[in-house]
Amino acid sequence: MLSQNQISSFNRDGYLVVEDFLDKKQRELIINRAQDMIEDFDPATSSSIFTTNEQERASDEYFLKSGDQIRFFFEEKAIDSKGNFTVPKQQSINKIGHAQHALDPVYKRVINSLDIPSMGKQLGIKKPRQLQSMHIFKQPNIGGEVRLHQDSTFLYTTPMSCIGFWMALEDATIENGCLQAMTGGHKLPLKKRFKLAQSGGTEFEVLDESPWPNHQLDLLEVKAGTLVILHGQLPHYSAENTSNKSRQAFSIHLVDSNCHYAEDNWLQSEI
Ligand code: FE2
Repeated sequence: MLSQNQISSFNRDGYLVVEDFLDKKQRELIINRAQDMIEDFDPATSSSIFTTNEQERASDEYFLKSGDQIRFFFEEKAIDSKGNFTVPKQQSINKIGHAQHALDPVYKRVINSLDIPSMGKQLGIKKPRQLQSMHIFKQPNIGGEVRLHQDSTFLYTTPMSCIGFWMALEDATIENGCLQAMTGGHKLPLKKRFKLAQSGGTEFEVLDESPWPNHQLDLLEVKAGTLVILHGQLPHYSAENTSNKSRQAFSIHLVDSNCHYAEDNWLQSEI
């Protein structure tokens, strides 16, 4: 459980770093489970490359219907212009998502033991719903950049309620693309929404046209096992991984079931 000081820091900064949250055994269970799942995964069944260009992934059904499935998304640089893999299968995956917390027994056991909904309640969510899982790999040498964004852009409720729980499965450093956050930036308005377009696919709806303030981002270099809790409106970023070490992380996002979940959010889940 979080202390009053930790809750105050979260409210002030828009994020909170909690060291030693996952032990080695829990990290290994998740890392090994993902490795087994990738081993069993047939790349021909996935057409989805997770690109930093949000518009490109927008109309991909494999992505759009992944809210209540366990699916595999490739790194952009894992496949060349001729469609051939540039790396072995185990190093080709950008992320696995988005419902392993509900569907996979190993992920489920570890996640349930962490009692993330109780922390969500401490941070103001009345009726926490574990909505979205992501196992993020940030593969050596090719792990892509994730541009500055707010998570409520993707998981929008009225009023806004999204909180991300990001857990380092491996050390995250400047070299392998650690998180970077705009401290205090959660007080900015939400810039845009990523939503289903009436004509099919997805689109961004701009909610606030003002540019990002010229704040320096703070580097969140953390040890394996550290939890970083991210307010849904906190602008955050991660750079490309140019090192030869992966930077695996697992994240789960909560929303408040007492808030209205937009029918045109990209992620729709029956579970
Ligand atoms: Fe994010």
